[in-house]
Amino acid sequence: KVVDGTRVFSLTAQEGVTEFRPGVETRTWGFDGSHLGPTLRAERGERVAVEVANDLDEPTSVHWHGMHLPAAMDGGPHQEVDPGATWRPTWEIDQPAATLWYHPHPHGATEQHVYRGLAGLFLLDDDASRTADLPSTYGVDDVPVIVQDKVLDDDGQLELKDDGGEPGTLGDVVMTNGTVGAYQEVTTERVRLRLLNGSTARTYQLGFADREMDLVATDGGLLDAPVPIDDIRLAPGERAEVVVTMSQGETTRLRSVEADLGSVAAPFAMGANDAFDVLELRAADELAPSPKPAWGASEHATADALHEADASVTRTFELDEKRINGRSMDMGRIDEVAELGSTEVWEVHSTVPMPHSFHVHDVQFEVLSIDGDAPPPELTGRKDTVYLESGRDYRLLMRFDDYADPDMPYMYHCHMLMHEDAGMMGQLVVV
Ligand code: C2O
Ligand code: CU
Ligand code: CU
Repeated sequence: KVVDGTRVFSLTAQEGVTEFRPGVETRTWGFDGSHLGPTLRAERGERVAVEVANDLDEPTSVHWHGMHLPAAMDGGPHQEVDPGATWRPTWEIDQPAATLWYHPHPHGATEQHVYRGLAGLFLLDDDASRTADLPSTYGVDDVPVIVQDKVLDDDGQLELKDDGGEPGTLGDVVMTNGTVGAYQEVTTERVRLRLLNGSTARTYQLGFADREMDLVATDGGLLDAPVPIDDIRLAPGERAEVVVTMSQGETTRLRSVEADLGSVAAPFAMGANDAFDVLELRAADELAPSPKPAWGASEHATADALHEADASVTRTFELDEKRINGRSMDMGRIDEVAELGSTEVWEVHSTVPMPHSFHVHDVQFEVLSIDGDAPPPELTGRKDTVYLESGRDYRLLMRFDDYADPDMPYMYHCHMLMHEDAGMMGQLVVV
């Protein structure tokens, strides 16, 4: 609802039960329901406010992943909401249209809270996305695809491995939007899938066996132009929007195939070999025509362009098993200080034979290079999370605009949530 020009949402974190297996009640957590949360949606330029209530027995928080906003509204570990309390962040949407998401970020317990089911999408629209020739009827030809893997124990309850074994919990049950064996009835020639890897540890390689897809957007919004791809690797926290073309009466399946993880140690390679069906698409006998994906230069390409020549600071981040630059997360320590308006290059590197999923709050960055080479097409758009192949040098370009607060940090961390909770996170203030 809109009150005095502000779009107001409410989210209540609560416990519930969900039937993943017929006749078996699994205890889960959700926002405003028993599992996952509603899709929030707002326009660029709009002011939003959220009433975040906590009906759980323990503190949680809600972080707006991918959102450019003041640090005090970010919903990280410094904005925890106590049981019974309500937190009311408000900010103005000031970034290009994109598929963002929200999830808890309580210090040391993010993995548990997300795994139990606290997560949802936050979609942003703008003039560029509205006038683009893209399927855009939500739930009809514009479909959320939140992919998560779980382990269900003998009693059908969610099991989270807590022995510290890498890379965290890899589930043998894959669910889409909280549903095992999910399918979508397709009534149009083209369908847009908004893919989110909402898993705590698993990296997916999503595609169809029998067709290409048009990659149209990644974390931060539309690419400069659609890119045909066979499949796309998504690490925990990453998103992509793809458009799939269907024929009348046919059925096909989005699935995750063996992911190319780069050079990794054994526990990672094991998970990569798993293959799963993610979403079945069932086309009707008659399909309404859809436009071929196309749009003009997206807004960020001109308005918010980043230039490496403007970079005044270069920072280096070395990630080992659980630490960044040899340090473990400390809520009382500021690790980095950035100046408001400054453009920076971040050089990020996994020094151990394991990948990480590197995420920075507040900004959408550009991947300048990987080992000195230009990034592949799927990494040419704005990103807030990037899969770090072991041993490779990632150079990221970003700018800290609009919001300074010497007293409240933004987080940067690994989005493999066991790593984050174990301390693979640092704090940055913008002054
Ligand atoms: Cu999606 Cu700091 O998180
Ligand atoms: Cu985030
Ligand atoms: Cu990691």
